[in-house]
Amino acid sequence: MSCCPCLPTKGTKLRGIDDEIRVQELGGGNMSKPKVYIVFYSMYGHVRALAQEMKKGVEEAGGECLLYQVAETLSDEVLKKMSAPPKDTDIPVVDVHTLPDADGILFGTPTRFGAMCAQMKAMWDATGGLWQGGKLVGKPAGIFFSTATQAGGQETTALTALTQFTHHGMIFVPIGYTLGEVQFDMSEIHGGSAYGAGTFAGADGSRMPSEKELALAKHQGKYFTNVTKAIKAGRQST
Ligand SMILES: Cc1cc2nc3c(=O)[nH]c(=O)nc-3n(C[C@H](O)[C@H](O)[C@H](O)COP(=O)(O)O)c2cc1C
Repeated sequence: MSCCPCLPTKGTKLRGIDDEIRVQELGGGNMSKPKVYIVFYSMYGHVRALAQEMKKGVEEAGGECLLYQVAETLSDEVLKKMSAPPKDTDIPVVDVHTLPDADGILFGTPTRFGAMCAQMKAMWDATGGLWQGGKLVGKPAGIFFSTATQAGGQETTALTALTQFTHHGMIFVPIGYTLGEVQFDMSEIHGGSAYGAGTFAGADGSRMPSEKELALAKHQGKYFTNVTKAIKAGRQST
């Protein structure tokens, strides 16, 4: 019995989209795999670790997942002063013109002063043509993030990203509390919230995503793909 009537007891199945059923209802059984892009920036690898785990979730839900990083905007000299390790060259840099090819897009960013990083914002600032052509209208969008500290701005990072999604007419897909066993757990600190998966890097960046944070990242990939699938199937059925 939980102490508060609005909180579920352990093991309670939380309300959410029962995606498989919903997709069947929408006639999505025969539809092509939803294509989900994960577009991220990561200076020290925390957001990248979440992105890689999220990709597993997308694939587990039957989606095709393409991982992209956004272009660097800082000079080598500045990056060196920030002790940034070399970029993972296995992950291609996103070309914004390909964003319309995705059925849904998940965006990952480290927090900078409570909002998304400038590299990610620079990518958005290059989408004027897409905006003009309405190329991202109606596309599901999700967000995940990393802060140094617990009160460092995970939720403000998500909330301030909504202006980009909104101006493009994208459909923001939060995860709510659909992974209650992790999200309600108070036995250890962990990042992430109803807005999306998240990790705490620590003030010196030495803390890597915990098991719970990775579990939420994988869940977000899965949940987002199922919502994207339902939206795609709904469109195909009309
Ligand atoms: C210029 C700058 C601003 C930052 N602002 C914040 C902040 O507002 N809140 C916070 O908790 N961490 C802040 N950080 C720490 C980063 O969020 C942290 O390095 C990042 O989450 C690590 O993720 P990554 O390894 O994927 O780059 C800031 C770091 C830099 C370099």
